[in-house]
Amino acid sequence: MTTVLDVQKFKDEGKRFAMLTAYDYPTARLLDEAGIPILLIGDSVGNNELGYANTVPVTMDEMIHHAKAVSRGAQNALLVGDLPFMSYQHSLESALLNAGRFLKEAGTHTVKLEGGSDFVLEAVTRMTESGIPVMGHLGLTPQSVNLIGFRVQGKTPEAAAKLVERAQRLEAAGVFALVLEGVPSDVAAEITRALRIPTIGIGAGPNCDGQVLVVHDMLGLNSGRAPKFVKRYADLDQVIVDAARRYAEEVASGVFPDEAHSYGVSKNGSQPAAQPTLTSQRIDH
Ligand code: KIV
Repeated sequence: MTTVLDVQKFKDEGKRFAMLTAYDYPTARLLDEAGIPILLIGDSVGNNELGYANTVPVTMDEMIHHAKAVSRGAQNALLVGDLPFMSYQHSLESALLNAGRFLKEAGTHTVKLEGGSDFVLEAVTRMTESGIPVMGHLGLTPQSVNLIGFRVQGKTPEAAAKLVERAQRLEAAGVFALVLEGVPSDVAAEITRALRIPTIGIGAGPNCDGQVLVVHDMLGLNSGRAPKFVKRYADLDQVIVDAARRYAEEVASGVFPDEAHSYGVSKNGSQPAAQPTLTSQRIDH
């Protein structure tokens, strides 16, 4: 079982590591089986699973629902619950209560929040002092899409210097790791050198300590154009469309269901009683 102490050890020993998002039970089970050490229940569930245009509408209850499913599926990964827009910006009290919900109700081990304002720094300190490990997130912070758009951040020397300073202040406030999203590679490299804690890049080049991708992006499970930083490792869109078409064709032509997928009549002439299996709760003989 990966812990926040292991994540620090990855950096101390120069071991690069992977994080992926997960939003549901079967994906969490498979990514865990693949040995992914950190799973982020990202608020990107909004655009990848719930059909929202971006992460802004995602609610705390939706996050808890998905985080519960992920924690039922993953046995070994460190689980990070992403605090959604307006679950921590309103007051320190609600920030602390919502962070606590992830650990108490959903079974995550840590939480993540975006930005580096004074308020966020104070929230990080209060959470860590309460025993809640916090992952930071700087650069292109999607919850601020209405303010900054989906643009690479830290492109001018002034903006880069501000990012470095914010990263150092987040580290001092107590974050155990820092996501850097949509920043130039050299700026991410500078931040990674300046920090004792690990950085985890997404669209931040090869010099971060770890990397994170949205699982739907890397599996090709979302139609549309992927950003430049996404590498596709599978084309599940096509796999699913092909399988669904084949199934519909076989139903139409009578190929499915055949005898192998049908119940026979038992020896004494009566139908065998249907027994639910433990895993699928479906009839299985
Ligand atoms: O919600 C999310 O998927 C994220 C990653 C982009 C880091 O925050």
